[in-house]
Amino acid sequence: MANAKDPAASPPVAPRATLDGVRVLLIISGGIAAYKSLELIRRLRDVGVAVQPVLTAGGARFITALAAASLAGTKCYTELFSLTDEAEMGHIRLARDCDLIIVAPASAHMMARMAAGMADDLATTVLLASDRPVLVAPAMNEVMWAAAATQDNLATLESRGVAVVGPGSGDLACGEVGSGRMAEVPVIIAAAAELLGGAARGPLAGLTALVTSGPTIEAVDPVRYIANRSSGRQGHAVAAALARLGARTTLVSGPVALADPPGVTTIHVESARQMAEACQRLRDGGAAPLHIAVFAAAVADWRPATASAAKLKKARGGGAPALALEENPDVLALVAAAGQRRPRLVIGFAAETEADATRLAALANEKRARKNCDWVLANDVSPGTATFGGADNRIVLVDGTVTEDWPTMSKTAVADRLARRIALALTGSATGHASAEAALRAVS
Ligand code: CTP
Repeated sequence: MANAKDPAASPPVAPRATLDGVRVLLIISGGIAAYKSLELIRRLRDVGVAVQPVLTAGGARFITALAAASLAGTKCYTELFSLTDEAEMGHIRLARDCDLIIVAPASAHMMARMAAGMADDLATTVLLASDRPVLVAPAMNEVMWAAAATQDNLATLESRGVAVVGPGSGDLACGEVGSGRMAEVPVIIAAAAELLGGAARGPLAGLTALVTSGPTIEAVDPVRYIANRSSGRQGHAVAAALARLGARTTLVSGPVALADPPGVTTIHVESARQMAEACQRLRDGGAAPLHIAVFAAAVADWRPATASAAKLKKARGGGAPALALEENPDVLALVAAAGQRRPRLVIGFAAETEADATRLAALANEKRARKNCDWVLANDVSPGTATFGGADNRIVLVDGTVTEDWPTMSKTAVADRLARRIALALTGSATGHASAEAALRAVS
């Protein structure tokens, strides 16, 4: 089988060398290391970063809001329920008007509140309301750092995509020596640059992407529904990979047991009709046109014709109720329909119970034509393949010109390879040198 281009062979995106123009929301929580955060504000501003400080009550025991504001050149926010601040700059705007949130120092208490999803002050509320990448720089006594609770909280935060820098080892303010020192300021700045590296200078910067993921569920009555075995792992991985390459990405997800991917705006839906509505709104109603649309969701093809408002009761004489079904909208076909707002690249998945690559390619080509999409990634979801819900996937990709038979790899690797192939197709580069928008203008 032809494997004409191999975008997976391209080198990874180079980290961004400069943070010039980046907006950082800096949360300073309680700890003696808070004094270093004043230095962090200065050094961030030296490299062109606009810093918006937020001080917790604990942080305010160590430094003043006035000091942070003076160095940042802007007001330092402290209170959640301050009417003036909510009128001028609500916590939702604080959460959105930044490219990155840094929590430095992150005390044990701050990490615990973040892990628990609390929203009991301005800092935690902003964190909960934000979909921006988060970098934490823990600082605490070494026994507190090693405590099982702190380590569990750390693991929880990392599993949600929060980046962690430090802590380092050395003399601690409490007089002990060990691990718990907040990372030095240049190390925090380097970690921030690395975290933003892919997104800020990635080959898809300036482009918008839509990804669907997960199953849809179709109500039979208030307690029962029809669903399928999709875990959402592949779609979520694709959304994260596109965002890492710089695309402004919106994920429309059915019910899954996964965390929302970092750096991605996630819209949660249940039914196929809700998914179709959300996607159509993004295609036709969004301020910016969509450039990329990837449909990884396992949308239910049919729904019960009428969802009973009350729980269906068993007939006393026995026998099962007849369940009349009607067809759901085809979300992919709606977005792929010809028109001014059709995304430049529309990509579908094809779930087939077919192992043979040639047969898979034939089915994928048929689906590609029928749904008016540009590429189709076919995979075998037969029982025993563990594609649905599993960590790995095996893809046969058709794009109208070539057929690529990808080896079995993790869903994350599939997502990365797909994202690089998309970048190559739209911008001529999988690593991002030219402006994606300019490249796109040249090809459309
Ligand atoms: N899809 C969609 N909306 C639907 C059905 C499918 O957006 N109502 C999308 C899927 O996300 C996938 C592609 O269409 O990208 C193909 O889905 P698949 O289930 O393989 O194909 P079907 O169209 O359902 O065709 P069939 O079940 O007959 O193979």
